[in-house]
Amino acid sequence: MTQPIYDIGQICQLDKWETFINGQPFDTFTRLRKEAPVYWHEEVLEFEPGFWALTKYEDIIMVSKDPETFSSAKGGHLMTMGDPKVVDPAAVAAIIGNMIGMDPPEHQVYRKMVAPRFSPKSVRLLEDGMRKKVKELLDKVEDLGEFNFVTEIAEQLPLWVLCEMMGIEESERPKIRDLVNNLTDASINQDPEQSMQVWLNYMELFKMGRDMIEERRKNPTDDLMSVVANTQVEGDELPPELLDGFFLLMVIAGNETTRNTITGGLLALTENPKEREKLIKDPSLISNATDEMLRWVTSVIYFRRTATKDTVIRGQEIKEGDKVVMWYGSANRDEDIFNDGHLFKVDRFNAKKHLAFGAGEHLCLGNRLGHMQIKVLFEELLKRYPEIRSVADPIRVPSNFLAGISELKVKI
Ligand code: HEM
Repeated sequence: MTQPIYDIGQICQLDKWETFINGQPFDTFTRLRKEAPVYWHEEVLEFEPGFWALTKYEDIIMVSKDPETFSSAKGGHLMTMGDPKVVDPAAVAAIIGNMIGMDPPEHQVYRKMVAPRFSPKSVRLLEDGMRKKVKELLDKVEDLGEFNFVTEIAEQLPLWVLCEMMGIEESERPKIRDLVNNLTDASINQDPEQSMQVWLNYMELFKMGRDMIEERRKNPTDDLMSVVANTQVEGDELPPELLDGFFLLMVIAGNETTRNTITGGLLALTENPKEREKLIKDPSLISNATDEMLRWVTSVIYFRRTATKDTVIRGQEIKEGDKVVMWYGSANRDEDIFNDGHLFKVDRFNAKKHLAFGAGEHLCLGNRLGHMQIKVLFEELLKRYPEIRSVADPIRVPSNFLAGISELKVKI
C-alpha cells in the first residue's frame, strides 16, 4: 500500500461518517491542501483498499475533465458500493446504471437524451410556477411561531419541481418524499434491519418508475419520464436497469442537494447578519448570493473516480485501479482561488467559480435548475420574512456524501 507523504492520518478521518456530524471537516481540508494535497487515505472497511484524497481546486477540475484517465464507470462514483459479499448486484447495477456512472462516449448518448429539458429556456419556463409554489409555502408558515425550516420550506420546493418535471402525480408525491427521506436516513445507518429497509425502498422506487415508464409507453405525455420511456438507443428501448438508474438519479440528485443548499443558505444568513442586510438593501445581489450559498454549503461533499492507468497528480504517482476522491468542499475553500474562503460574502466577486456542481464531463445537469430554485426561494423569503433566522443548532445528517440538515428550527 502506498504511504502518505505526510502522516496526518490521526486527524484525517474522511471516511468516517461521525466526522461529518458537525459539518464538513474544513480544518482538516485546510491542512490537507497545505500539507498533503494528494493524500493516500486508509479506509476502515476491510474490503476497501484506501483512496487518494484530492483537496485542491485545480486538481479536482483536472480529474473531472479527464474521464479517459479517471473513470466514473470503473468501480462506481461513490467511495464504496458496499461489501461485495453482501450487497445485491442487481441493486448495485441500478445505482451505478445511470449517466453519472458512465464514461464517454456512452455517457454523452444518455446526457444528450435529457439535456434539452435542462436548457436555460426549459428552466425559465418553470420560474413562474416555482415562485407561486414558494409564495404558497410562505403563506402556510405565517402563523407558526417556531418551525422546522427543512420540512416546511426547504424540502418542499425541490420535490415540487422534480415531480412537475418528471410528471409524478400529486397523489404519489408524499410517497416519493417518504421513500427518498428514508433512503438517505437509512443508508447512513449501520443497523442491518435499517439497511434491509434501504433495499426495500429502492425496490419500491424502481417499481414506481417502471409503472410510469409502462404508462408513458402506452400514452406518451410531455414530461421527462415520457422522453426517457420513449427514447431508443441504436434502435432499442432502454434496458430496465438503466431506467431504474435514471429514476433513482433524478429523485435523489434533484431533491437532497437543493434542499440542503437552501437550509445551509438560511444558516449562513443567520450567522452573518451583515451579509443578510447587504442582500436586503441590494436585491440585485441575489444571483451572486445564490452562488455564494452553493460554494459555502457545498451540499455534495465528494464524488469518486478510478484511475484507468498509472498516472501522476501534482507529482504523486497514482496506480491503475486506485480510487481518487474529489472533496468539493475543500476546492470551494481553496485559498488559491477564494480569498477568506471560510467567510460567507454575498458580494464575493468570484463566487460563481465554485465547484458545488462539479466540473467537466459530468458537470451537474441540474445546475441551472438548482440555482433558479435557491434564487427564487430567497428572493421571496427575504421580501416576506426579512427577519427569519434559525433559533437552534441544526441537526445534521451524519453522512460523508451529502451535507444534509434534517432539522433547522427557525422563527420568522
Ligand atoms: C444545489 C443543487 C445541486 C448540487 C450541489 C448538485 C451537485 C452535482 C454534482 C457535484 C454533480 C457531478 C457528478 C460527477 O462529477 O460525478 C452532479 C451531477 C448531476 N446532477 Fe446535480 N446537483 C444539484 C442539483 C441537481 C438537480 C436539481 C438535478 C435534477 C433535477 C440534478 C441532476 C444531476 C444529474 C442528472 C447529474 C449527472 C450529470 C452527468 O452525469 O452528466 N442536480 N450534481
